[in-house]
Amino acid sequence: MTMPARKEDKMVDVSVYRRDFPVLSKEMNGKPVIYLDSGASAQKPQAVIDAMTNVLNNHYSNIHRGLYNFSQVNTEQYEAVRGKIAAFISAASENEIVFTKNTTEAINLVAESWGRTFLKEGDEIIITGMEHHANIVPWQLLETRIGVKLKVIPVLDNGELDLQGFEALLGDKTKMVAFVHTSNALGTINPVQQVIATVKAYNPDILTLVDGSQGVVHGPVDVRELGCDFFAFTGHKLYGPNGVGVLWGRYDILDTMPPYQGGGDMIETVSFSGTTFKAPPARFEAGTPAIVEVIGLGAAIDYVQAIGMHNIAAYEKELLDYAMTALNAVDGLTFYGQSQQKAGIISFTADWAHPSDIAMILDQQGVAIRTGHHCCMPLMERFGVDATARASFGLYTNRADIEAFVDALTKAKEMLG
Ligand code: ALA
Repeated sequence: MTMPARKEDKMVDVSVYRRDFPVLSKEMNGKPVIYLDSGASAQKPQAVIDAMTNVLNNHYSNIHRGLYNFSQVNTEQYEAVRGKIAAFISAASENEIVFTKNTTEAINLVAESWGRTFLKEGDEIIITGMEHHANIVPWQLLETRIGVKLKVIPVLDNGELDLQGFEALLGDKTKMVAFVHTSNALGTINPVQQVIATVKAYNPDILTLVDGSQGVVHGPVDVRELGCDFFAFTGHKLYGPNGVGVLWGRYDILDTMPPYQGGGDMIETVSFSGTTFKAPPARFEAGTPAIVEVIGLGAAIDYVQAIGMHNIAAYEKELLDYAMTALNAVDGLTFYGQSQQKAGIISFTADWAHPSDIAMILDQQGVAIRTGHHCCMPLMERFGVDATARASFGLYTNRADIEAFVDALTKAKEMLG
């Protein structure tokens, strides 16, 4: 099982690296910014900004198409990122790394290409009650288009998956189990390896897809150890730019899948009598890709790997404990997501104000949190709320941020309570 931290890890204060993030020394509403919305999008270290600026300043051009030096340099840098990502998630080959726009596009790619090709009416797809809309709606579109059925693993009161309920959902018609590694709304780190082992023991032909948007940020990921078939994540939550995401898929499966979109760079030959397509991953990358952003993502991966994902996970766990203790000082809060394995994501409501009003008061004090349904409306319904307030950590979040957050929340209670 991929755990957030190894027991023997000594906690390293990774927040010392916050000096690498220029935005964190800025002000918001005249106050030093306290950024607690990394779950929505993380801030960028100077190394990422520099890598992207370097391309734009020094050798910007399209890739795969030019025989001139700039294009070759960019092509090399772009393609090298595939290898970095493969190593980062322990993929067997860089040819299993498909660049997408984001996690959403990666999941849509699988649903459309694999799903439309291999599924038929009555086939079943299992998801969970804590999925982001990105891992619900693409499968619902298949319900409408080809008549597959969605089944949902229930979520327990503590924010963990009901694994007994899950086993009861598996059946002869199950073709895919698609679920989130770490919940963006609860912080729950799911027992991914255990869920996949259960699926594969039941029937090795059932495929599994892991939405790793948060999972890849909060701890180390090894796709081969997890045993999944697809793993999707996005760059902008991993301290990289927005506009680039990753779909990892087992090569033997990718190779059976037809193109998702058609266009330049994904074909071998085109004629009016027919077109042939490149092998994966190029088959799935039609058109000019996000060149600068992919190179920026490569720099982000270098950056977090130099710090160590185990160190980030161990640090965050300690900070989460600190934050939960500090939040006890504020009356009237209800927390959502009390799982044993939990990332630095705290979702709560207050009995004295709506989350949006709390967020507005916090904003005036320079504290950025997210409120709303977090693109998890069914999960909100499960807990009987329309919204929660959410504070989410990055590697740069420190105890002073938590103290400022708790002070701001105390002030909000004085004003609104
Ligand atoms: N999915 C992102 C979040 O959790 C946007 O905020």
